[in-house]
Amino acid sequence: MQKASPTKLAILDKLVSAAPEMVPSGELVASLKVTRQAIWKGIESLREETIGIESVPNRGYRFASPPTFDLSPSWLEYSLKGCPLGHPILVFDSVESTQEIVKEAARQNMPAGLVALAEEQRSGRGRMGRIWLSPTGGNLYASILLRPRISPMQIQLVNLAAGLAAQMTLESLFRVRCSLKWPNDLLWKGRKLCGILSETASETDRVHYAVTGIGLNVNMSVEELVSAGAENPCSLLEIRGEKSDRGEILAGILRRLAEMIETLETGGMQRLVSLYRQRCSTLGKEIRILTDSGIDYGIAENITPDGALEVNVQGTLRIYSAADVLHVRASQD
Ligand code: BTN
Repeated sequence: MQKASPTKLAILDKLVSAAPEMVPSGELVASLKVTRQAIWKGIESLREETIGIESVPNRGYRFASPPTFDLSPSWLEYSLKGCPLGHPILVFDSVESTQEIVKEAARQNMPAGLVALAEEQRSGRGRMGRIWLSPTGGNLYASILLRPRISPMQIQLVNLAAGLAAQMTLESLFRVRCSLKWPNDLLWKGRKLCGILSETASETDRVHYAVTGIGLNVNMSVEELVSAGAENPCSLLEIRGEKSDRGEILAGILRRLAEMIETLETGGMQRLVSLYRQRCSTLGKEIRILTDSGIDYGIAENITPDGALEVNVQGTLRIYSAADVLHVRASQD
């Protein structure tokens, strides 16, 4: 597992702000109040994260280049300075599921903001008890620990916020405009690009935690995803025709999600739901709704202020807060 440390982050901060100038190692020792050996170990560890740092004997160190490994935890944390989410960031090669890592951290009372990332998940989990295929190959598998100060009745809004944050990030970084299939799948031309799973623990009047997991197909080809077993997938690689930086995408999502949670905590539910409605391709569609008690068919009419789906089922309006939705007719959004 790789992670940042206070020393590594402080070194990075000094070197990046001084670039292209050199920073004498004595200056690092004095300002960070650590030993020369601790500085050297920190530099070595930053280099292992593929961050380019030059050293000149008797002169010091210079920041040369951002990491080539797009999930460098120190670089990510550095770029998320001031954001309440993304501290710490834990990066694993292979785990059963990042959800399990973060849920355990939540039970150990770790504060909100912790993020676990993995190159591969051996038992990635999707909504409604499904599996989320998570092979190695450059996709984003991330789980975020949240402790939103909202009523448990409104927890679905955190789920919608995560989808919205991902949708808006892809649009602003790459001009890729996906639609949101309620509650929070990102679709591109009707095919699935991203799935989100939120697992929560709450009591009557308080949310203890929400662990929000994001699976986004970034740098794998559609052929690779299909041969791994994914159904009707698409990937950013296919849409953009080039590889994307997963760290940049994750940082964008975390910044937006942090803002949206603040919006929710300060009573801005309506604003969030209205942003969501504008991007939701489920509204107005004929849908099949799979719930724990059976299957319904109807027309999706609205998103309620709590984030539930309002559906016209044979002339009766029904509210669904947790369900699996299928758009009955294939469409381009
Ligand atoms: C879905 O569409 O069914 C939700 C998929 C959520 C997948 C992500 S990948 C990171 C996190 N870890 C998991 O095991 N699942 C979520």
